[in-house]
Amino acid sequence: MIREDNSVDRRLDPVGVFDSGVGGISALREMIRVLPAETFIYYGDIRNAPYGTKSTDEVISCARAVVRKLLDQKIKALVIACNTATGAAAATLRRELSIPVIGMEPALKPASEIRKNGRILVLATPLTLHQEKFNRLMEKYGEGAERVPCNGLMELVEKEDFSGAEQYLRKLFSGFDMAQVDAVVLGCTHYVFLKDMIRDMIPAETAITEGSEGTARQLRRILQKNDLLNEQGEGRVILQTSGTEKDIRLMRKLLEKDKMGR
Ligand code: DGL
Repeated sequence: MIREDNSVDRRLDPVGVFDSGVGGISALREMIRVLPAETFIYYGDIRNAPYGTKSTDEVISCARAVVRKLLDQKIKALVIACNTATGAAAATLRRELSIPVIGMEPALKPASEIRKNGRILVLATPLTLHQEKFNRLMEKYGEGAERVPCNGLMELVEKEDFSGAEQYLRKLFSGFDMAQVDAVVLGCTHYVFLKDMIRDMIPAETAITEGSEGTARQLRRILQKNDLLNEQGEGRVILQTSGTEKDIRLMRKLLEKDKMGR
């Protein structure tokens, strides 16, 4: 569409969203709810998953390759729907790109606000928990918080192995006195699909925090601020992957499904 001043209306361009796999679909669902008129291109970099056990440089190069594909499709903004890739690559991408870049980080701040005197468990990938960015977050909001690296858990979500995930999580929580835990932070977008399962496993008083809603609201704010917000018409979702057709089917299923693993 051409605007009155003859410039192309950037507001109609899609928002690019990516993760190492299907996890970012949990954040995408919130984005669609908050921004129903936007078109989203979601890219799951499944061929290169997991990111969480790679080095920072490897994740930066994976992220750059994905972003090139999304830029070719004229995205107006980029959402890194992955805590790991945000920690490793957001600063670099922000320096290199001229479009707004929105990232995700473990929802430790809201957990610290809920905390009474107990502990906070931050479940995330090893790379997220070792990043400088996460250290800074811990310095600010990390009182009582403990890093809980969950190697192998995202793979169980990718495989839809929910009984495996249940076993994994039961074992993990049995290592803590959960009555002393005020909050569990789901610091990886894949784990959000296990939220109901986790809810049933831990005391009702223990809060669960995660970043999808905050990310969707942040995207809305940034689009508005940059005069890129599209509020008219019906949005679309385009799913893409470096993986296979089967992966696209799983993404679609997760996008449409209400609850996982139940
Ligand atoms: N879903 C990703 C995150 O939010 C990472 C999973 C991975 O690739 O290890 O951290």
